[in-house]
Amino acid sequence: MPTVLVTGANRGLGLEFTRQYLAEGHAVIALCREPSRAKDLQSLARGSKGALTLVAADVTDGDSVRRAAAEVQGAVDILINCAGVIGARGQRLGSIDYEDWRHVLDVNLMGPARVCEAFLEHVARSERRVTVTITSGMGSLADNTSGGSIPYRTSKAAVNMLMRSAAIDLKARGITCVVVNPGWVKTDMGGPNATLSPEESVSALRRLIARLGPAESGRFYNHDGREYAW
Ligand SMILES: NC(=O)c1ccc[n+]([C@@H]2O[C@H](COP(=O)([O-])OP(=O)(O)OC[C@H]3O[C@@H](n4cnc5c(N)ncnc54)[C@H](OP(=O)(O)O)[C@@H]3O)[C@@H](O)[C@H]2O)c1
Repeated sequence: MPTVLVTGANRGLGLEFTRQYLAEGHAVIALCREPSRAKDLQSLARGSKGALTLVAADVTDGDSVRRAAAEVQGAVDILINCAGVIGARGQRLGSIDYEDWRHVLDVNLMGPARVCEAFLEHVARSERRVTVTITSGMGSLADNTSGGSIPYRTSKAAVNMLMRSAAIDLKARGITCVVVNPGWVKTDMGGPNATLSPEESVSALRRLIARLGPAESGRFYNHDGREYAW
């Protein structure tokens, strides 16, 4: 069974990826900032017969991400960049909080870059060689008819470009890089009025991820498997 690595694994979509891949029999490496406080992950680990490994990593801290990579010995077949923040809500021109913006870019854009760089060789020596970055429909230029949310939108548009370049740069090594929109999901970030449960979103994303290969690299997908307009 392929090994899956998930960032932001202690809650929300990352926790659900961890739960579902474990249930399917995969080995899962769960990255989160504070494993000692990640009660749900700890309880999954206790029942996992060694299939779940918890590793500390703050994606804004290069040393922390590199230490996490040094702790992981085996190959990583599927790397899922899930950690993310939305930042302060309602930011338009005239009300931008530049510190907040910097932090959102650090987590949502540079975080996936740090993780992909640190785990590049783990992915390259695996069978599947797939990296998936959870972006958002809010990162689509084509879809932006309502404006606002400048830190979040720009971070997701930029991570889309990052992964599009990574797909080209890593093609020769057989590594597949895609970005996916999980839909509007009931998590701390999505809130209670969202349209999808984490179970529904992650089940759909797992079906999509299962069929990814070099032919799909460099694409932007919706959770239902259709391509999303950049
Ligand atoms: N929910 C939605 O409707 C929706 C829609 C579109 C896209 N997305 C994207 O889906 C992904 C997951 O979102 P979610 O809804 O599951 O959000 P969430 O419930 O708020 O969870 C966010 C996760 O990111 C982690 N994280 C934040 N900053 C971090 C850092 N510096 N280093 C490591 N981990 C960090 C959090 O860890 P802590 O507990 O330590 O803070 C948490 O595990 C994000 O990339 C988000 O942008 C979500």
